[in-house]
Amino acid sequence: WTRSPVRERMRRMVAVLVDRIGLLVTNDPAHGGPLGELADAALVVEGAHIAWVGPARRAPAADVRVDAANQAVIPGFVDSHTHLVFAGDRAAEFEARMSVEARVSGRVTGAGRAPYTTGGIATTIQATRAASDEELQATALRLLGEMRRAGTTTVEIKSGYGLTPRDEARCLAIAEALTEETTYLGGHVVPPEYADRRDEYVSLVCREMLDVCAKHARWVDVFCDRGAFDLDESRAILAAGMARGLRPRLHGNQLGPGPGVQLAVEVGAASVDHCTYLRDEDVAALAGSETVATLLPGAEFSTRSPYPDARRLLDAGVTVALATDCNPGTSFTSSMPFCVALAVREMGMTPGEALWAATAGGARALRRDDIGVLRPGARADFVILAAPSYVHLAYRPGVPLAAAVWKDGRPS
Ligand code: NIG
Ligand code: FE
Repeated sequence: WTRSPVRERMRRMVAVLVDRIGLLVTNDPAHGGPLGELADAALVVEGAHIAWVGPARRAPAADVRVDAANQAVIPGFVDSHTHLVFAGDRAAEFEARMSVEARVSGRVTGAGRAPYTTGGIATTIQATRAASDEELQATALRLLGEMRRAGTTTVEIKSGYGLTPRDEARCLAIAEALTEETTYLGGHVVPPEYADRRDEYVSLVCREMLDVCAKHARWVDVFCDRGAFDLDESRAILAAGMARGLRPRLHGNQLGPGPGVQLAVEVGAASVDHCTYLRDEDVAALAGSETVATLLPGAEFSTRSPYPDARRLLDAGVTVALATDCNPGTSFTSSMPFCVALAVREMGMTPGEALWAATAGGARALRRDDIGVLRPGARADFVILAAPSYVHLAYRPGVPLAAAVWKDGRPS
């Protein structure tokens, strides 16, 4: 690598000034408040990173200028919980659940309400096993495209619809090509062929399946809930993953009160996700821990269930994140703005709290400090909104407000 004019030019990164930002949300408390808001601001991008943030009138010179036209700029959404590798859909299951005729076990369960059960997961397992890598990849890419257009710049992707060593490993290999944040969820449910041999399945998840999956994953997750895995099974699955260097996170307390939250705190999980049914001791345990409570309101929307009480968690001092849970069964949305709107309307969050949870909160749930924040050195992942304020994300639900989405210093 000798010096030459061409290489010298390559070495020097082009600086881009994003100017005339009406309202900039940095999530950097250095600028005051949890959102670190700056009015009449600018930022400079160099390469994949933020180089400068401050008042527009003091902005340094740059090679290229982008005019934000007095609109708001926010960090890109961090969607810390998705199940993007699957085949088929479950529109019929959703339709049945929403039908006033819906009956479960022969009885109408309330005003036209048929509750979600984990039984439907088998449909997706079957379709996923039958699908080619190319089909699975194409679906995941399509959903990632939807996400990016809505402002999401980081996505965690779980396995969990293969549930054989071969199928889990190929789902994770597909996920790994799309994101750094991959999660091994062999412990999603006991697949039908192991229905009478639960222990054998747990042992498979902890041994042969983990052997072929560990190299593709950063995280280990388990669905600790009714119809999935109990406390001891969940603990064993997490411990096996952790012994292989995977970091723990959990699905817990989605379908009823249960041991998920306590287990998450016990193992030092980065996050426990769903948290719909919490007892006071669960809230207290979370408040006294570093474990993030990730709320997934798309799941309550699509299963017509009561929403988690974000206010209760925030008031207790728990760190809250929001994510889509994008999957064909309980939450077939790829939209973080939709989740923000639900969190504000249904879960007692202010628009500012919901925005923080969908950006910095997601980063916290993935133990990342280079995303979800706009400060020098952080990744240049941000969204220019077609709105003067982030409040519009909840105030104008369902409206595509991401005018430009920058990821790694480039508009996409
Ligand atoms: O996060 N909770 C467990 N798993 C998914 C749903 C899976 C499915 O129904 O396909 C969830 O909601
Ligand atoms: Fe999930």
